[in-house]
Amino acid sequence: MKDRNKLYLVALCAGEIVGFSIAEISRKKYQETKVVEGTIARLYVIRKFRGKGVSSLLLERINRWFKTKKVKYIDICVLAKNTKAMDVYKKWGFKPFVVVMQKAF
Ligand SMILES: CC(C)(COP(=O)(O)OP(=O)(O)OC[C@H]1O[C@@H](n2cnc3c(N)ncnc32)[C@H](O)[C@@H]1OP(=O)(O)O)[C@@H](O)C(=O)NCCC(=O)NCCS
Repeated sequence: MKDRNKLYLVALCAGEIVGFSIAEISRKKYQETKVVEGTIARLYVIRKFRGKGVSSLLLERINRWFKTKKVKYIDICVLAKNTKAMDVYKKWGFKPFVVVMQKAF
């Protein structure tokens, strides 16, 4: 599977997959200005490896790829109840941007 707009990464420790991420880019238009937007679509670290810097390493690699693609903004989507992940993303400089509200129907 080859898509120049997507980056699939796995983090390995002694041959075991301990985390993975999927990042992608898309071209958007903001007020007549074209920009490249980066999205971190998936980020996951297995429980026993959390808090050891695995996602920071994945992010570093994603950021390098985003730079080569001239990304202007980076999005990451997270469930409102996932406060742990939000705390990590806030540490990385992310701020809430769009709030999607939902109710059972
Ligand atoms: C959210 C998640 C990806 C973070 O991965 P991780 O490998 O544990 O994160 P790291 O160890 O690289 O830590 C990243 C930074 O956040 C900090 N951090 C880690 N856990 C934290 C927490 N619970 N609260 C606040 N900060 C935290 C670390 O200190 C580190 O900061 P530093 O670089 O200044 O030291 C991981 O917990 C996970 O996979 N969770 C389950 C799946 C999930 O929720 N994915 C996100 C869906 S959008």
